[in-house]
Amino acid sequence: MSRLPKRCVFSHDACANQFLFMLSGGEIFFFLRAATVSETRVSLNFRTLPKAEVHIHLEGCFDTATIVHLAAENNVPLPRPEAELLTFEGLSDFLNFLDFICGLCRTRDQLAKAAYAFCERLRDAGTGYADVIVNPTHWHSWRDNLGGMIDGLDAGFAAAEQDGLPPVGLCVSLLRQQSAQQAIEVVEELGRLRHPRIVALSVDGNEAAAGRTGQKFADAFRLAGKIGLKRTAHAGESSGPDGVRDAIFLLEADRIDHGVRAIEDAELMTILVDRQIALGVCPSSNLILGLYPDLEAHPLDRLRQAGVLVSVNTDDPALLATDLPQEFAGCATAYGWDRETCRAVAATSINASFANADIKARLLRDLSAW
Ligand code: ADE
Ligand code: ZN
Repeated sequence: MSRLPKRCVFSHDACANQFLFMLSGGEIFFFLRAATVSETRVSLNFRTLPKAEVHIHLEGCFDTATIVHLAAENNVPLPRPEAELLTFEGLSDFLNFLDFICGLCRTRDQLAKAAYAFCERLRDAGTGYADVIVNPTHWHSWRDNLGGMIDGLDAGFAAAEQDGLPPVGLCVSLLRQQSAQQAIEVVEELGRLRHPRIVALSVDGNEAAAGRTGQKFADAFRLAGKIGLKRTAHAGESSGPDGVRDAIFLLEADRIDHGVRAIEDAELMTILVDRQIALGVCPSSNLILGLYPDLEAHPLDRLRQAGVLVSVNTDDPALLATDLPQEFAGCATAYGWDRETCRAVAATSINASFANADIKARLLRDLSAW
């Protein structure tokens, strides 16, 4: 079984007849052993792999030190001892923790710092661009001030870009439990703001707790399309294939966050392939939050082999103790991905992102030289 390993693992892919050693830090070494050819050593460094990230939440990018610092700054006690801060009992517990963290960001400066730190995290992972999801319902101090919240975040993203850190587009997310009217009001506000940082409307949260919400949010998503926003939706994580169908047919999603449970519905897989709708898959997140026991059971590679566009992502990297090179290295090890497969998955991440044409062209050019 292979969870995403933190240190050093060894596996053998009988079909490709290749041995893989993975080291910490997202670097793996392949020892290819063709029957008659002597051993060849190929090194893949996923930190240098040109790539985009299309499924990552700002809420999930606060490390323990920052959480402890913000709690002290606001004079708020931690909900549990520091050593157990990042221990979660499934998705609901995890989502509640996001409310705690984001509730600690109360000033414009704290927002800007969180945004800047996010871009440093991208740089450290060698990620060239990210569509970052922000769900205003978690950020209690900003609930009635979406414009102020976007302004604070944008200040941090803009300062980061000026300092040479990777560019970022913002996906403003609805929460599953919001009402149809609240959803429309969020989109109307986005229409008034017309902020260039905002690239998409999103919906996240726990589908298992909220039930089927496609119909409820259909009008809001239609309005988002009318004001020129892209659309993305969490589905097929805490919902089954029905959630993915609703995201496609009711929300007209350009991209699906997770989407992995589409594997349970062959007709839906054909729809994803025909319409070239990419999935933003987050392997570690799905294992840690209990969707699959290990990568062998995870459908990522079966989806890819069936022709579904898949990218690899981190979801909430600081809280789940992962980064993008580690996600790639884990998949390459578990599934025996060679350089070309890794390159193709990275290309999907760039093509499926909502980056502008110049950023996409630059990243794709760099990727072809990797
Ligand atoms: N918000 C942050 N991470 C999430 C996840 N994995 N599923 C749904 N909503 C989220
Ligand atoms: Zn997510």
